Amino acid sequence: MKIERFTKLGFILAAAGSAVGLGNIWKFPYITGENGGGAFVIIYLLTVLLIGFSIMIAEILIGYMGRLDTVSSFEVLAPKNKNIWKFGGFQGLAGLFIMIFYSVVIGWIFNYIVTSITSLPSTVEEAESIFSNMLHTEFLTQLLYHTLAFFWITYVLNKGLKGGIEKMNMFLMPALMIILLGMFSYATTLGAFSQAFEFMFYPDWSKIDSGAFVVAVGHAFFTLSLGMGAIMTYSASLEKNSNILKNAFWVVLLDTSIAIIAGLMLFTFLYEYGSIPSKGPGLVFISLPAVFYEMGVLGNFFSIIFFIALAFAGLTSSVSLVEPMVQYFIDRFRWSRLKASISMGMFFWLFGIVAILSNIDGFKESLAWGGKNFFDWVDYVTAAIMLPLGGLVMAIFVGFIIPKSQVESILKPQLKWAFAPWYFSLRYLTPIAMFIVMLSLVGII
Ligand code: PFF
Repeated sequence: MKIERFTKLGFILAAAGSAVGLGNIWKFPYITGENGGGAFVIIYLLTVLLIGFSIMIAEILIGYMGRLDTVSSFEVLAPKNKNIWKFGGFQGLAGLFIMIFYSVVIGWIFNYIVTSITSLPSTVEEAESIFSNMLHTEFLTQLLYHTLAFFWITYVLNKGLKGGIEKMNMFLMPALMIILLGMFSYATTLGAFSQAFEFMFYPDWSKIDSGAFVVAVGHAFFTLSLGMGAIMTYSASLEKNSNILKNAFWVVLLDTSIAIIAGLMLFTFLYEYGSIPSKGPGLVFISLPAVFYEMGVLGNFFSIIFFIALAFAGLTSSVSLVEPMVQYFIDRFRWSRLKASISMGMFFWLFGIVAILSNIDGFKESLAWGGKNFFDWVDYVTAAIMLPLGGLVMAIFVGFIIPKSQVESILKPQLKWAFAPWYFSLRYLTPIAMFIVMLSLVGII
């Protein structure tokens, strides 16, 4: 079978497209708000630098050396114990699970693009009731848009790596950046920009507890698309002699800058128009629409392009969440791309419906266990267990299983003096950090 390869720019845009997603624009600002601003941002940046960046290099390395789907790559690189290590490759499953709620959220965003055209809520209370109505009563609306997301994602996956994923990223990523930079430039002209800047960069350490560290590590993984086989699968199609360090650097830089830009912009708008930043997931869906209303006509326009940008960010990430398992079925079971794309798509579409129902009045009681509904469970299990586990497995795999000489021969010329600290961090710092995060997220410590 002909192996498809990204172009150089194609890889960076596709990997950055995977990383830059709802995590940057929707989640990062609200967890920053929840965790007190500046001090959290500093912890997050350090986590990205010390843990995220080293795991990014490790994950690209596994894909680059293995050159196959995630499961086969683990097998090839650990020939002696392949029956055990192949399970490391099943981290691709986490992506499919994440898609169960990710696709539903993209559906909400589609819905908000449409409502931005017709009407915006005039107060936060109104915005709150619109969002909660949608969530708890409008099953068909959510189903419609979730289905639209399913069609879009399956279509692109079926077109393949170059004709689908690369092409979409080549168009949507620049569009996303232009929209965000445009809105950000406007934000810098507003008086509240300095207030937002202060909120995000002046640390108040009294607002931080150990929980913030755990949130930061979890988010660093999620936002950089680590631990789910996405980056690994994309890296399998890198040209020989590609520079892993450079690729990792660009992806981390783009992802982090976009999160910071989105955060500064949203907080400026919220302060400028006097809305108290709503803490929690409602920030983008509740506080922001009311702020856009206050801006008048410009607000309508901003609202439409903002939600379009958010949809773009979500869609480019979605394809990377599903592609690992698509590739797995193509490689291992010789499925056609069409069959693999539709089957994986059906998986997240069907469970996505359960996720929607688990918020709908009348159903939510029967779809909840132990204080969490199905939607929240999927979020929790992927973030608390699957992601850190994927990171832990990769750190140990590259740190202890792949012979050091092989790792060195590829990475030493690129990392130079930084090779030793990187290798140390991968062997010891990262596994310990991942372990603490897992224990804490499942409530043991
Ligand atoms: N990085 C994406 C975001 O920030 O929204 C989410 C994501 C995509 C996570 C792909 C994992 C992944 F494999």
